[in-house]
Amino acid sequence: MKIRQALSILFISLFVLSCSKSDEAEEVVAGVPSAYAAAKLTNDGFTANWTRVYHADKYLVDVSTKADFSTFLPNYNALSVTALTVDISGLTAGVSYYYRVRAVRGALISAFSNVITAEILSTGPEPTTALKDVANFNVGMIVRSSKLTGQTSDIILREFDNITSEYEMKMDKMYPSNGTYDFVAVDKIVKYATDNNLNLHGHALIWHNATPDWVTKFSGTNAEFETMVKGYITTVVTRYKGKIKSWDVVNEAVEDGSNTLRNSIFRQKMGDDYIKKCYQWARDADPACKLFYNDYNFASNAGKRAAIFKIADDLKVNNLIDGLGAQMHISYKSPAASDIQAVVNGTVSRNLLMHFSELDIQANPDNNMTTLTPERAIEQKNKYKEVVKIFNAIPKANQYALTVWGLRDSESWLISFWGHADWPLMYNDDYSAKKAHTGFLEGLK
Ligand code: G3I
Repeated sequence: MKIRQALSILFISLFVLSCSKSDEAEEVVAGVPSAYAAAKLTNDGFTANWTRVYHADKYLVDVSTKADFSTFLPNYNALSVTALTVDISGLTAGVSYYYRVRAVRGALISAFSNVITAEILSTGPEPTTALKDVANFNVGMIVRSSKLTGQTSDIILREFDNITSEYEMKMDKMYPSNGTYDFVAVDKIVKYATDNNLNLHGHALIWHNATPDWVTKFSGTNAEFETMVKGYITTVVTRYKGKIKSWDVVNEAVEDGSNTLRNSIFRQKMGDDYIKKCYQWARDADPACKLFYNDYNFASNAGKRAAIFKIADDLKVNNLIDGLGAQMHISYKSPAASDIQAVVNGTVSRNLLMHFSELDIQANPDNNMTTLTPERAIEQKNKYKEVVKIFNAIPKANQYALTVWGLRDSESWLISFWGHADWPLMYNDDYSAKKAHTGFLEGLK
């Protein structure tokens, strides 16, 4: 960046010096153009656009298949253009091209703009290579007991080796009334996992958003409340001992904004050390079970990240935690890779298992799209690739699983949660693989 700034200053200085007195009043060239993301992507071309530079006579456009521009596309080595855009065609489907631009004013030429990558749409279907056949770690998918058949199951069994119950292993479903458990759905999921040799992750014993009304309105004393919670955790973990080999014991205990402990009914009735008590009861019920703490905005919010690591550190003192779950409900444009890496670094430095536990990648976070454009599909693909690359680089001993929170776009919780169109997952409604799936595969390379 410094070189570009120096060149821009030189360019402007030379330009000012070259101006006659009469030009003094004229604005100097405002510097280097900025290139926009490739537009109108097709399977044989794209449109390049860039910002206006005042008083520029024209622009010089370079296009290459090499990021270092060591070679140029024929006719695109400093192609002279007077407009702020140029359509580039005759390109090869599935190939990535690079473009950059300079401004020209008389004899003066600006520095190069930023370099844009344009990935020309591949023709035909995306590769259907099974994710688990390429991944060196467990690839996870969520399940519902009502959807363990048909094409959903076909894809799960072909592509995944880890499953998480989307909602049926939560307190509001397993413990609908005091003293009455309902394990029908869980038993079905456990059988499916056992029959198909799938690793089943338990999610989530304690979560303020999935607590049955009779618990949030508990009529007994705090001591009776604590006894009830201990009984619930002990009953569930014991029942599935050896079948559910990991649990999110507590989910989302950190309040957004304050980054302090959420004032859930569990905290109100059992005190701040409710978390430690719950993990101790789970540990006592099944010492071999891997105990996780799971939360969202783990990457995007540094303050929350610190609070989560504090919970982990407190639990580690008594060996009550084995892993951390970063939910990873993210978008195509955030959080930055460096923030995701910070989650991994803090987890690995504590020698804990890392679970990217609920990955989905919003393509329409700003609700300004009615269809998934090719350009946005590629940006989403590249974010899947980025996340998978980061997870793939985690030391094997610290990789638990990378779980995607849903199969087909239309099944995503995000649609109803945000109330607008989005395409956050890896499969179309016809069960065909999207570019997002290709991005996952590319991240594994
Ligand atoms: O499928 C049944 C339907 O048969 C029934 O008629 C209907 C009314 O009772 O319920 C339907 O199940 C609902 C299910 O979503 C499917 O739509 C459950 O009641 C409802 O509780 C469930 O919501 C789940 C939510 O957690 C609360 O448990 C979402 O599926 C699930 O995606 C969401 O996942 C959470 C993670 O566990 C934690 N991180 C945030 C994430 C999103 O909120």
